[in-house]
Amino acid sequence: MTTTATHKSPARNDSAQSEFISFRDEASHIPSTSHATFGLYRYPAKFVPQVVWGALKRYARSGDSVLDPFAGYGTVGTVARTQANPYELWDLNPLMPTFHALSIMEPPDVDPDSLVPGLMAHRDGFRPDWKNVDYWHHEAFLPMLGRAWSYYHNLPQGGAKDVLLIPLLKATQRYSFNDEKRQKLSQSPLSRRRIENLLDEDWEAKFYRMLRDGVAHILKSQRQYQAMEPANVESHVVGGINTLNQPLESEHDILLTSPPYMQAQEYIRRFKMDLLWLGWYEDEVRDLGRMEMPYQRVDEVSIHSRTYEDYLEKIEEPHLRLLYQRYFWGVFGALTRLQESIRRHLLLFVGPASVRGMPIPISQIAVEHFSEIGWRHQTTLVDSIVSRAMFFYRANPATGEPDPRMTAEHLVVMERAH
Ligand SMILES: C[S@@+](CC[C@H](N)C(=O)[O-])C[C@H]1O[C@@H](n2cnc3c(N)ncnc32)[C@H](O)[C@@H]1O
Repeated sequence: MTTTATHKSPARNDSAQSEFISFRDEASHIPSTSHATFGLYRYPAKFVPQVVWGALKRYARSGDSVLDPFAGYGTVGTVARTQANPYELWDLNPLMPTFHALSIMEPPDVDPDSLVPGLMAHRDGFRPDWKNVDYWHHEAFLPMLGRAWSYYHNLPQGGAKDVLLIPLLKATQRYSFNDEKRQKLSQSPLSRRRIENLLDEDWEAKFYRMLRDGVAHILKSQRQYQAMEPANVESHVVGGINTLNQPLESEHDILLTSPPYMQAQEYIRRFKMDLLWLGWYEDEVRDLGRMEMPYQRVDEVSIHSRTYEDYLEKIEEPHLRLLYQRYFWGVFGALTRLQESIRRHLLLFVGPASVRGMPIPISQIAVEHFSEIGWRHQTTLVDSIVSRAMFFYRANPATGEPDPRMTAEHLVVMERAH
């Protein structure tokens, strides 16, 4: 069900419309956010698959091609296949193509029970290029982890190697002092206690059981995804690149993306342990982290929005002003370049943002900016489930109406004006 509300808000663009919809109700064939392969591995700020499905169902015609230049876990491509839309995915994270490939592949013919004995019999070891490896893993676990990773690195491409990867990444995290509930690598009293408890158990048997059950789960999830009858569409998937200066070779009908959040979401740091065990060098990981938004130095670009200027004026501390500017120069600069090659729709999923507790109306800034450069604001879709919880706190006290500048997450829909 769709209800439409036009808000009386202090926003600059009075024609802005918000539609409250329930993406989850509309996509009832995707019963949960982790259905099939949508939740094989944790990814910060991952798209809810139902949101992508709803967006494509509304705006993508048959055969339309879709670009996601900040693809993260690759959800846009995984959903696009189920609607037979070709697509292109980019991300700074070099693991994105792997997560995406695992999500869309036919399950290989692998017996989880026969995988583990081979692994247990393996004697060689692997040690990552990581000077603090002893700080992050208890010394008792390191030989076992090293053997498991050596086994993985020596497997031939495809088959068992594919389906072992995510269970091995998860088990390596579990057998580390990292607190997975935190955004970046960090130890906590809770995570240290977890390791103490593990040491009191038969931790070796538990590790191999995790791998075996993990492989069985991957295979089952891949079968579920294939049951959604994905089409064998054309796709172009690139990881480890900087969207700010990556050339776009072909045109697309739709750009659907969720850009990096303004608050320090350090995606590369979250994947540091994974990358190092996979064989990346520590300084390569550091260099990737430097390209994350809003940390990298970017050229100044024009942001065509009064709201952007108004909020910039309210920020006093120089380093926060710079962070705010760099964020918009980076994200909007990239999108401004890419929109030239987009034929019909820009679908921008923006999350909440604030500077020193002051909410920044990114969706409003997007509407103003893109309206100035050849786009028309069609609507903003707000998920009614998420928004209800948020509005409890965020209603405008004067009107009791939800304040569209502050809502949790919404999908800004822009349509080419000419
Ligand atoms: C909000 S997440 C996208 C999540 C994605 N929609 C999903 O379903 O998982 C933003 C992404 O932007 C990526 N990113 C950050 N800076 C980047 C840059 N300079 N170039 C390319 N990607 C970048 C991050 O690695 C992260 O995956």
